[in-house]
Amino acid sequence: MLKNKQIVLGVTGGIAAYKSADLTRRLREAGANVRVVMTQSAKEFITPLTMQAVSGNAVHDDLFDLKAEAAMGHIELARWADVIVIAPASADCIARIAHGEANDLLTTICLASKAPIVFAPAMNQAMWKHTATQENLQALQQKGFHIVGPAEGSQACGDVGPGRMLEPLEIIEHVAAFFKKDLLAGKHILITAGPTREYVDPVRYFSNASSGKMGYALAEAARDAGASVTLISGPVALAKPDRVTSIDVVSAKDMYDAVMQEIAACDVFMSAAAVSDYTCDNVATHKIKKTDDILNLQLRRTPDIVASVAALAKRPFIIGFAAETENLSEFAKTKLQQKKTNMIFANLVGRDQGIGTDDNTITVFSDDEEKTFGPLSKARLARELILYIAKKGI
Ligand code: C5P
Repeated sequence: MLKNKQIVLGVTGGIAAYKSADLTRRLREAGANVRVVMTQSAKEFITPLTMQAVSGNAVHDDLFDLKAEAAMGHIELARWADVIVIAPASADCIARIAHGEANDLLTTICLASKAPIVFAPAMNQAMWKHTATQENLQALQQKGFHIVGPAEGSQACGDVGPGRMLEPLEIIEHVAAFFKKDLLAGKHILITAGPTREYVDPVRYFSNASSGKMGYALAEAARDAGASVTLISGPVALAKPDRVTSIDVVSAKDMYDAVMQEIAACDVFMSAAAVSDYTCDNVATHKIKKTDDILNLQLRRTPDIVASVAALAKRPFIIGFAAETENLSEFAKTKLQQKKTNMIFANLVGRDQGIGTDDNTITVFSDDEEKTFGPLSKARLARELILYIAKKGI
């Protein structure tokens, strides 16, 4: 996948820089050409000599080095890169690039390059969780940069939590995804994600714990596989994926209307949203007062979006989801039949399982196969699932 691809590997100052040598070696094993750019702090953790030996190329570390500029200057490096990977990406480097600074070689290359830029953050868990870092990450995502990881676990400083750099092979998988463009090229995929809100009065609603993470991860994976993706999302706290057409909805009825509007243009429909099965019949015009001991609300079934799409004369390939607390296989198989979908992606859910979490396990049910993926992070799981459906020739 990475044969002859040109990769600029940015190394910044953090203990995870010891893994950058292994990452370089593995990128080269995968066929890539690697040019390493180190910040001054990176050199406190790993030597340029090591990075030069493993990359097979001179290391770049100075914006104002006349000789280096004469050989391959910063603008040339920026143009040369098919992709830029920053691993480890320190909190400082994230902050500087988020603000468009260009005060060393690496930040200047990032500002000058049109290539996709992938950050593999690595830092202490408290630094990762800090509002300043989180705001910088959001700013990066909004500008179209890609963030992979970090993983959770024990840290060099003795803390436990999020902030460990992804392992080199995991980073390579993300990088390879940029070059897997043809897998779903020409396909248009419609994905629903997140919960819906059914209002009872102007300020109260009922909903569910869906975070939208699985649907969003599928949208990104489908996009990375070359599909053109439309994402119809209920209210969630996630950044909109870049290069995906996003439509925001609130209620099950809104979601139904948006799907019906978009469906004709789609080859595949993935219904990952946790759509409310009921909506309030008479939404109160004003806030309901607590006058009576018992308050009766009349609820009415919402239209089943998946079933409605399945009933269309010209229907796309349909993937429904089943989130169950028990009897996963039995319920999933029933749904496959009743909703007339081509596949069901089923997962067990509970208070700390499947719904709202970062990891998930999904079993795919179709007429001729049953296959389980995970447990994996939702991002990796999404890539595996997209690969699976692409291989099925949807
Ligand atoms: O019917 P149930 O909610 O158990 O099935 C889940 C699947 O059906 C999901 O794919 C969900 O997005 C979809 N669904 C729907 N319209 C509804 C309720 C669920 O499309 N009103």
